[in-house]
Amino acid sequence: MSERVSFGSRMGAVLAAAGSAVGLGNVWRFPYETGNHGGAAFILVYLGCVFVFGLPIMIAEFTIGRRSKACTGGAYETLVPGTHWRWVGYLGVLTGFLILGYYSVVSGWTLEYIWQALSGGFSGKAPVDYVTMFQDFSQHPFRPLLWLLAVLLITHFIVVKGVKDGIEKSSKVMMPLLFIIIVLLAICSMTLPGAEKGLEFLLYPDFSKVTPDVFLGAMGQAFFSLSLGMGCLSTYASYFGKKTNLGQTAMSVGIIDTFVAVLSGLIIFPAAFSVGIQPDAGPSLIFITLPNVFQEAFSGVPFLACVCSVAFYVLLALASITSTISLHEVSTAFLHEKFNFTRSRAAVLVTSGSLVIGVVSSWALGIWKSFTICGLNLFDALDFLTAKIMLPLGGMFAAVFVGWMLDRSIVKGEVTNYGMLKSSYYPLYIFILRFVAPIGIVLIFVNELGLLG
Ligand code: PFF
Repeated sequence: MSERVSFGSRMGAVLAAAGSAVGLGNVWRFPYETGNHGGAAFILVYLGCVFVFGLPIMIAEFTIGRRSKACTGGAYETLVPGTHWRWVGYLGVLTGFLILGYYSVVSGWTLEYIWQALSGGFSGKAPVDYVTMFQDFSQHPFRPLLWLLAVLLITHFIVVKGVKDGIEKSSKVMMPLLFIIIVLLAICSMTLPGAEKGLEFLLYPDFSKVTPDVFLGAMGQAFFSLSLGMGCLSTYASYFGKKTNLGQTAMSVGIIDTFVAVLSGLIIFPAAFSVGIQPDAGPSLIFITLPNVFQEAFSGVPFLACVCSVAFYVLLALASITSTISLHEVSTAFLHEKFNFTRSRAAVLVTSGSLVIGVVSSWALGIWKSFTICGLNLFDALDFLTAKIMLPLGGMFAAVFVGWMLDRSIVKGEVTNYGMLKSSYYPLYIFILRFVAPIGIVLIFVNELGLLG
């Protein structure tokens, strides 16, 4: 049997996994959720969820991937052959494939906004014009599709290049670039006049706002943001070397992901408060209000407004493309390993399929807006089905599988690199996988499906 490809370095493995985790979930969804749930108190609960639930499940997914040396679609079949657990792997592949379709649409919007920022499309507009601009664009039958195609082609070529030359190399360039842009923008935003109110909103918790809804909302956000629940990180872990420390890698990914999310908050809230925009504006916070924020904040210096807008949307595009790569890889590796397609053939199938889902998702916001399922347009329905049902389900199964099913010697062996590392956290880790995580996820479900009222 030929040796399985692996990341060339431990740093490469961390950056690739962090590249998957850091994406639209951090820069767009996290500030929006924080804004809707009252600010600092939500962030504290979110941090608790990342470290108590997220990291153990991430280590569990790493264990499944590295031990099986198979993509998520084949990992369970390899570890416990002939059982129904293989369906959990297939569920992960399907989830990733569906998310890739609509996620790429939003990713494409970031490219349009880079173009608009570069070509002066934001200058001289009144606030209401940004709303019209966003609606006209996102509902247009063809323009968003061009950008969708661009995102999928970029993703496609990186994935076809393979694990080391494509995924690892691109992450090594894109991730540091992203950190530089995000830190510069945060500094820029925090020095705007009136920015203190935004900082206060982010840093002073109001515990009267911590309701069960906040707690469960934060857990859902942790899953999406850490790329948990669909075997994305377990597929990446199948390329980890023997010496990769799973606990340490999970900790690094968790810290990087959280760092980017909090810094995104530091860009968005001080800037929004500085020009009197409400923090709970939702998706519009990024695509409607931010161009306005940059224009107003730097009204005397159009060049700076242009540079900041371009930098922000480049950041969003980079963050989302390292995530689309990981989503694409899950399905490509599955077709490659399960059906023996070459990687490029597998990638062509995945890209074409995602293009179809992307086109449907994009039209669902425009020409097919009136077509709904249970009151949701197709775009929102896909988001609901994948992020709110399939990801928590997949995460719960991974926790139960490693906590209850997998041989104890394997579970301990993987976190200690078969005796080479100390892992004093092991008993706590197992306790969380067996009890805390499954029960917590069931609670998310009950909440997300509205059963708690
Ligand atoms: N974690 C990504 C984000 O925050 O944007 C989204 C994502 C990627 C979710 C990969 C799930 C996944 F498997």
